[in-house]
Amino acid sequence: MFALKKLSPTITDMIRFDHSHVLVTFHQYTIDAKPKVKKALADTICNALEIHATLEEEIFYPAARTFDANEPVLLKSVPEHNEMRRLIAELRATPATDLHHGQLLHQLMREVIHHVADEETVLLPHAERVLSKDRLSELGADMTKRRLELVGPKAGKLAIDTAVGFSGSTTALVLGIVGTVAAATLLTRKAKTA
Ligand SMILES: [Fe+2]
Ligand SMILES: [Fe+2]
Repeated sequence: MFALKKLSPTITDMIRFDHSHVLVTFHQYTIDAKPKVKKALADTICNALEIHATLEEEIFYPAARTFDANEPVLLKSVPEHNEMRRLIAELRATPATDLHHGQLLHQLMREVIHHVADEETVLLPHAERVLSKDRLSELGADMTKRRLELVGPKAGKLAIDTAVGFSGSTTALVLGIVGTVAAATLLTRKAKTA
């Protein structure tokens, strides 16, 4: 088990991958997309952000607090997640046929992009300077384990939303499904070995 943990991607790379996945999905949301596609894209973004925020709060931020307790970016990170959760709830309650749907998604993404910039320019480089590669991989393995628990019940819905949301773009489809396929593969492997 220890060797497997060492082979895991690092937690910092996983966090960067999650951020890229949300941004790639957001870039598919065009003004003239069908409401069905807009809803699928927004659902993909909302679910991915919720899972990502939980993983950071349970695994990455506690680790970062051990060496970065008074870092302002870390101190405001959970309140910023909570503000995103508030916008996610508002977005989910708004039909994709409504003009306000796009405005809410843009507001959410403005907050996300600021938050992600802080994490990628402050918290992740700090963690990579302070923690060993093995420790970063161990935390990565912990994150994968917890992600499987969180994704498990939603795996089918996540795959459908990704397929519908990326239906107009083959290049983006390839990029967008990577996360879903990786999660599904891991789930299948886990089921076979259980
Ligand atoms: Fe975050
Ligand atoms: Fe993040």
